[in-house]
Amino acid sequence: MVYRIARSALFLLPPETAHALTLDAVRLRGKLIRPPAHKGPPVNVMGLSFGNRIGLAAGFDKNGVGVDGWFSLGFGHVEVGTVTPKPQAGNPRPRVFRLPAAGGIINRMGFPNDGAERVAARLRLRRNPGIVGVNIGKNAATPLERAIDDYVLCMRTVFTVADYITVNVSSPNTVGLRSLQGSEQLAPLLTAVIEEAHTLELQHRKRVPVVVKISPDLASDELREIAKVAASIPVDGIIATNTTIARDAVASHALAKETGGLSGRPLLAKSCAAVRVLRATLGSSMPIIGVGGVASAADAQLLRQAGADLVQAYTGLVYRGPRLVHELAAALRV
Ligand SMILES: Cc1cc2nc3c(=O)[nH]c(=O)nc-3n(C[C@H](O)[C@H](O)[C@H](O)COP(=O)(O)O)c2cc1C
Repeated sequence: MVYRIARSALFLLPPETAHALTLDAVRLRGKLIRPPAHKGPPVNVMGLSFGNRIGLAAGFDKNGVGVDGWFSLGFGHVEVGTVTPKPQAGNPRPRVFRLPAAGGIINRMGFPNDGAERVAARLRLRRNPGIVGVNIGKNAATPLERAIDDYVLCMRTVFTVADYITVNVSSPNTVGLRSLQGSEQLAPLLTAVIEEAHTLELQHRKRVPVVVKISPDLASDELREIAKVAASIPVDGIIATNTTIARDAVASHALAKETGGLSGRPLLAKSCAAVRVLRATLGSSMPIIGVGGVASAADAQLLRQAGADLVQAYTGLVYRGPRLVHELAAALRV
């Protein structure tokens, strides 16, 4: 009820203004309110102990300004980023569009962020010991042939402040990024990142699992190929999925033609299908983090049944507000 009133006000504002106000409120909340004790036993995935199965998806808190606040809302983990080696402004505005009738958002942000170093410095100051993932990407100005350098540099910069690191090769808003999902490019990229992680692990005596985040627009055989590459290296897990460039589910909507990635309710069927294919290919051992279109307990259960160990949400939070977090955590408690 309270959020429904707040939402009416927030939805009168441009999406990015509403988003900035929300982040301010979350940051303030983190200073004032202690996180609730997690109900139920911790969940062990990738050698990490999560308070529950629900996480904040990447992109909501790109710069890690509200981590303590997110935990105070009941999240079991928070993924910050995408961060790039150098700070960058992202694409020109407007670049975020709400599609309320469809429960969706189209965005073409293009990784605006403070840069890996500033975000790492900020994360060093967080108080809550909950699980924080850092999602890494390449700068728009870095040529695709040099992408590996950017990922390795980010990895080095955030290693000591991250509980896990996500290699994002699936944003549709950085030119060419998604081509890194092809096995000829993905295998060398992930090999380089994992080698760097092993070096840093010895140096800092700390293990940081590495996961790869993939697109919902891959065909089943491409998904199977990625699963095989991921298992052969191996990485520690797969996040499925990022936003979709498809518009079939919102074809009649006035904003459907906006360029960018579509998230929210129209994505649920695709994210569930991707997780199902990955799980069938990988067997039970490789952790999968399911994300895409979760806005209710039933949605989270669908992703879990498809094979996800953990579930993240972004757009559902915009439409349903903070009470969604407890609803999802409770639904996946068993
Ligand atoms: C405005 C916006 C910005 C996003 N930025 C990122 C990002 O920087 N990195 C990333 O990996 N995913 C990003 N995402 C994708 C989300 O993390 C998530 O994978 C996707 O939105 C599907 O989940 P949802 O339907 O719960 O929103 C973004 C999504 C939105 C809506």
